[in-house]
Amino acid sequence: MPYQLKINGKTTTVDVPADMPLLWVLRDVLDLKGTKFGCGVAQCGACMVHVAGTATRSCILPVSAVGASPITTIEGLAPDASHPLQRAWQELDVSQCGYCQPGQLMSAAALLVRTPKPTDADIDAAMDGNICRCTTYLRIRQAIHHAAGNSAPAATPMPKGSKGVL
Ligand code: FES
Ligand code: FES
Repeated sequence: MPYQLKINGKTTTVDVPADMPLLWVLRDVLDLKGTKFGCGVAQCGACMVHVAGTATRSCILPVSAVGASPITTIEGLAPDASHPLQRAWQELDVSQCGYCQPGQLMSAAALLVRTPKPTDADIDAAMDGNICRCTTYLRIRQAIHHAAGNSAPAATPMPKGSKGVL
């Protein structure tokens, strides 16, 4: 069935089954491979995109549920990778293997729109659904502060029970 999607500012039509997850549409139909497949069951955040500005796991969102909501993927965050978060990621050398990082960036970008000056607690809460097997969590937090223009935050330990630290 045809669905008209607004992705990264462009309208495109895809002819796919109603229950196809948005992630499959992005990667396999539209060749937007920046959004990653991790777990497929809403547990890792690798597939995070923005749907109407909200960080959303595309692996569990059927294409039929998107409707007219605009979608932004990592490719659309900034056409030339100049988003303040992308610059901060580079300056602080956040990525290790890199696999989780598109999803991390999309969650962080949604956070800064609703909370331009986040605290450590804001960041930890917003990023809780994004897993990094390389445990880059502290650098991610520092880079979000950097992008937000926050003065150097105290090195607060990651919360007890969190996913790990370097
Ligand atoms: S692939 Fe969607 S949350 Fe893991
Ligand atoms: S940088 Fe390797 S999984 Fe996050």
